[in-house]
Amino acid sequence: LVGSVAAVAGGTYSLDDSGGLGRAFDGIGGLSGGGATSRLLVNYAEPFRSQILDYLFKPNFGASLQILKVEIGGDAQTTDGTEPSHMHYADDENYFRGYEWWLMKEAKKRNPNITLIGLPWAFPGWIGRGKNWPYDFPDITAFYIVSWLIGAKQYHDLDIDYVGIWNERPFDKKYIKVLRRTLDKVGLQRVGVIAADGNWEIAKAMLLDPYLTEAVQIIGAHYPGTLTVNDALKTGKKLWASEDYSTFNDQTGGGCWARILNQNYVNGNMTATISWNLVASYYEQLPFGRDGLMTAEEPWSGHYVVETPIWITAHTTQFTQPGWYYLKTVGHLDQGGSYVALTDRMGNLTIIIETMTHDHSVCIRPPLPSFNVSAQNATFSLKGSFNKLQTLQVWYSKLDFSFNKSTLFKKLSPIKVSGGSFSLTLGLDEVYTITTISSGQKGNFPNPPASQPFPRKYKEDFNVRNPPFTEAPNFADQTGVFEYYCNMSDPGEHVFTLRQVVTQKPITWAADADQTISVIGDYNWKNMIVTCDIFIETLNVGGVFVAARVNKGGEVVRRAKGVFFWVFADGTYQVTGDLAGTSVLAEGMSGVGAGKWHTLSLHITGIFASGFLNGYPLWKNAIVTDADHGWVAIGTRSFEFAQFDNFMVEAL
Ligand code: GAL
Ligand code: CA
Repeated sequence: LVGSVAAVAGGTYSLDDSGGLGRAFDGIGGLSGGGATSRLLVNYAEPFRSQILDYLFKPNFGASLQILKVEIGGDAQTTDGTEPSHMHYADDENYFRGYEWWLMKEAKKRNPNITLIGLPWAFPGWIGRGKNWPYDFPDITAFYIVSWLIGAKQYHDLDIDYVGIWNERPFDKKYIKVLRRTLDKVGLQRVGVIAADGNWEIAKAMLLDPYLTEAVQIIGAHYPGTLTVNDALKTGKKLWASEDYSTFNDQTGGGCWARILNQNYVNGNMTATISWNLVASYYEQLPFGRDGLMTAEEPWSGHYVVETPIWITAHTTQFTQPGWYYLKTVGHLDQGGSYVALTDRMGNLTIIIETMTHDHSVCIRPPLPSFNVSAQNATFSLKGSFNKLQTLQVWYSKLDFSFNKSTLFKKLSPIKVSGGSFSLTLGLDEVYTITTISSGQKGNFPNPPASQPFPRKYKEDFNVRNPPFTEAPNFADQTGVFEYYCNMSDPGEHVFTLRQVVTQKPITWAADADQTISVIGDYNWKNMIVTCDIFIETLNVGGVFVAARVNKGGEVVRRAKGVFFWVFADGTYQVTGDLAGTSVLAEGMSGVGAGKWHTLSLHITGIFASGFLNGYPLWKNAIVTDADHGWVAIGTRSFEFAQFDNFMVEAL
């Protein structure tokens, strides 16, 4: 044994607070939105939905997240879908749309101390008065954002802690100052401004402008590759990786997360790291499928997966709190890997060690320069106020890439500190937490139900008097916003419907389509019958469609192909092979008009598609060669009101 230990190189690292402490720790978090990444989560039945939330937020259970950041919905496509704005129109205000309010309340219920952040990706069109730009009228934009913060408090009793500018888009110095001033004016002095959720450029601007420096509380950079820049350090502000990760949540994803959670501080002085995204709850074939801390993309079955990043997160979050301090003595291990240590300044100490190898910890971006990690001994000598510590709790993970037998967040026997130090033999791709905190727990629920495909027969009549959410289950809006709607004056058949409500092109973040579209179902469906009642509201120029085999959503929704059956208010119909309507497979007269309900039915088998109107054949055997499989969808010709009812799909 002595011989084998001797063959491994070793280093000694002192953990010491006698020379002062490092920066204050602000937490590890997850990001819901940017966009629609929690879309399917809300449709899970209990107890599974609560279980997922427990794995994410419950202290001493799973990821025990310390920060929840959400998108301030802007009615536009922001990666995996659209999220509704609290102000679709200039004279509109509603703080019950979407699911971010609900999510923040669920997080707070579990952890009242969780830090809440809001950030817009996109804005409703009226903010820009017709221009695709949110800064020409800074007072309006600030009013819009501050309204969201006030609404959070007034309707949900949520105190939002921080607010951002415009995700990964240019910042505007004037707007940032106006926002800060508006916050202060309405009594929201305690809400911090994060800027600018992109690269580190804002730091340079702050060094040149003391008023900007005063307006910004946190510098937030995205995907910093664990590094910061001198200008950012010079500002003296807190530095955060305000969005990071975005990596497929397999073991390498867990390795990425373990490495950056430590090294964002060790290399970059960043004191918070926020994962895009919180939970992968969107159809997996949308962009960046499964780039969340865990996976919950099957509300119809209840199946979900607690992935490696959940347990990697626990290594830090279960043994620290925002407000703890990093020690100055953090760093790299001699043979690769890193260690951080944090204290509550009341005697507690938590050390997190990671030995992620290069190839097992590559994140989606930026590229990872090469480095070597090998097995090693590490001796930690406890100095300063930690000198008297006797026993330390030990939590251990090892990502195993050869036999897929990873150990995740396992409690090992406590370490006896002798003579003020202890030693570990570190292997590859391991995480250790060594801590005075003894409340750690590996939370656990019985296995969730088995994975199931989306039901082949699915019906939705939208007849819900007080829907818990504004969106109907499993519909994933990709351009526009589809909301439950109540027709007070309807004689009875269509009192409760689904309505597309975005009537102006938003200030976009990604490239929304020129049409609106909401997708649903199984991406692998080929043959099916889709039926839906439709109601065009716009005279002469309005139009709606039902579609199948829709092959794209998210940021690339504009290029979606499929089979689209359109009817227009001018009495014509079309069948197109794409959402943009450039490839016409069939067309003619239908007799459909605005202001009246009609039933559309689309049948597809193999290369043949046929369409029915109000139960009668309208067109038949259109040849489909370009679209092989995909989701089912509904939508409108442009940003216009239109309604849908009695949606039905049968996959064959
Ligand atoms: C980020 C963006 C997120 C998401 C992510 C995907 O840059 O802020 O909304 O698109 O990329 O990796
Ligand atoms: Ca109905």
